[in-house]
Amino acid sequence: MVKLWRCEICGDPYVGSNPPDNCPFCGAHKKYIKEAKNAKVSFDVKLSHQDMKNVEHALEVEISNSTFYYCAANINDEPEGALLFKALSKIEMEHAAIWKKILNLSAVPAGSDSCHKKNKENLEESHQREIRAIEFYRKAAEETKNPRIKQIFEALVEVETDHLSLSEQRLKN
Ligand SMILES: [Fe+2]
Ligand SMILES: [Fe+2]
Ligand SMILES: [Zn+2]
Repeated sequence: MVKLWRCEICGDPYVGSNPPDNCPFCGAHKKYIKEAKNAKVSFDVKLSHQDMKNVEHALEVEISNSTFYYCAANINDEPEGALLFKALSKIEMEHAAIWKKILNLSAVPAGSDSCHKKNKENLEESHQREIRAIEFYRKAAEETKNPRIKQIFEALVEVETDHLSLSEQRLKN
């Protein structure tokens, strides 16, 4: 029997027989996916000065990475790589939307990042970008005293680490 699930990180609902291992929208791990009626989701968060600085930076990071992946999805010279970058572009845009909601913005601002034609160069840049995102989110999770902001930063450390493993698997071959 299908049920309605909800991701506690991005807030999006999902219909399925079982909770997915990863949120299909933001990639959050299974522990954050609850039956919709039991899910606790809030984007109405009072931010300290430090939180505000980190959340604004997080939004920029996600827009930049999503724009880079969108570019790569369209001009990458290997079809499987292009599919990977399409998936990552959508997930990073969902991350940007989380920060947009926390910041109470009406829309996600546009990015202007470029990318490469060669799959290997895009994989190398993806690797660097994910390392930077993980390091930033890890530090931001330590700095915040707000439990909701900490929860999101920690969940996204896990998701960006998954992304890092995708480029690592491919750069090894
Ligand atoms: Fe992200
Ligand atoms: Fe990522
Ligand atoms: Zn999610």
